[in-house]
Amino acid sequence: MLEFIATKKYGGSHTPEALDAFIAALIASDSPLPDYQVAAWLMAVCWRDLNFDETAALTLAMAAHGRTCDWSDVGIVVDKHSTGGVGDKTTIALAPLVAALGIPVAKFSGRALGFTGGTLDKLESIPCFTVDLTPSQMRSILTNCGLVIAGQTADMVPADKALYALRDVTVTVDNIALIAASIMSKKIAGGANGIVLDVKYGEGAFMQRYEDARQLAETMVAIGERTGRTVRAVLSSMEQPLGSAVGNALEIAEAIETLQGRGPKDFEELICRLAWEMVQVYQACGGRTSDAPWECCDSSDLTIECIQAFLHTGQALQVFRKWVSLQGGDPQVAERPWDFLATAPVVQPCPALDSGFVTHFATREIGELVRGMGGGRRTKADVLDPAVGLRLLVHLGDAVAAGEPLAEVHAASQEQAAATVAALQSLITIGPERPATLPPLIAEVLTSASLSG
Ligand code: URA
Repeated sequence: MLEFIATKKYGGSHTPEALDAFIAALIASDSPLPDYQVAAWLMAVCWRDLNFDETAALTLAMAAHGRTCDWSDVGIVVDKHSTGGVGDKTTIALAPLVAALGIPVAKFSGRALGFTGGTLDKLESIPCFTVDLTPSQMRSILTNCGLVIAGQTADMVPADKALYALRDVTVTVDNIALIAASIMSKKIAGGANGIVLDVKYGEGAFMQRYEDARQLAETMVAIGERTGRTVRAVLSSMEQPLGSAVGNALEIAEAIETLQGRGPKDFEELICRLAWEMVQVYQACGGRTSDAPWECCDSSDLTIECIQAFLHTGQALQVFRKWVSLQGGDPQVAERPWDFLATAPVVQPCPALDSGFVTHFATREIGELVRGMGGGRRTKADVLDPAVGLRLLVHLGDAVAAGEPLAEVHAASQEQAAATVAALQSLITIGPERPATLPPLIAEVLTSASLSG
């Protein structure tokens, strides 16, 4: 281990064999590596970085040491991963949409991290919905409805768990090679043939600078290429919360409204684009689409507009219904969400203090605000309140008059509502002029072809 740390400290490169031995030693059950040596190596990586070959080798070693999934008996399986944002309920509407298009989706999702929400926490706001599934339960649900979402078990990529815990407490989270290896090792172990990455950038993302998000996206697409997976990365804006809802039950309700064809425009645009990218990835992996259920055009010229029309047929909502019931929830949540989801005792409008145009959202702080209300965790032991959160009623560039509501605050108490209203008023800026340009929701899509071109 001393030699391994020294190699990186002096700017050398690790061989794949050395990285594999490091990962094996990291998770060895008899005498795992001491934290201080692993932390020293992580810090050396932050200063000296990993080159691409090292990053790919680290990813493969992390994925290989632990349980891996194989869905080959089910067919070509496509996964989607978001790097995390505020109001990001994408998976909950996208996965049933893609499954309804005839493409199997098997997915391991995560919990809330920092100011960002987590798909598992959101799904658990549907009463009795379970994300703790055995491999055979996952296979049975996937075969039955073309879609399954579960929490990662401890035996999958245990190296990521060990490394992440140390990165978190040694300020070594934000190295792009380490992030790429962390994400891609879990995707590879999850067994998907193709992966669409939703790489967020901007105020409400982990990567605030576009260049960093792009570099992360490039690295992950290239790792996919190296490891025989077809990967596309969509760079999407987190300059404002996605859609309207921020908070666990509120986001489930918004995902359902979207599957009912009544969702916010930006959210519908994002899921239709990601669904289209997943179709491309599925086809590139050799997935058959000749018997796919899209009616408006044949598979060769399936457009994003076709997917949008398909969303409005309600077929994706039917898949959602079946999926919820197979994972333990009541399928009627698909028609009457508020008969099942937890509601907050206090719902209060947040009035605009000035007239003008919405020029800025402090998106990260809005995520923090909802976390502080109980929508996220500050310690591992915290219990979430699924009912709390916000429903934003304005987006960037909208005109507002003083006194008009900017948002609805869903709070656990009158005191929490009052404090949240005051905080939110300071996090949404209203200026005299409409911003000259608004950030595009989707900035760019990277594929292995676009990288080599
Ligand atoms: N998400 C992950 O899974 N890993 C990271 O390192 C960062 C975000």
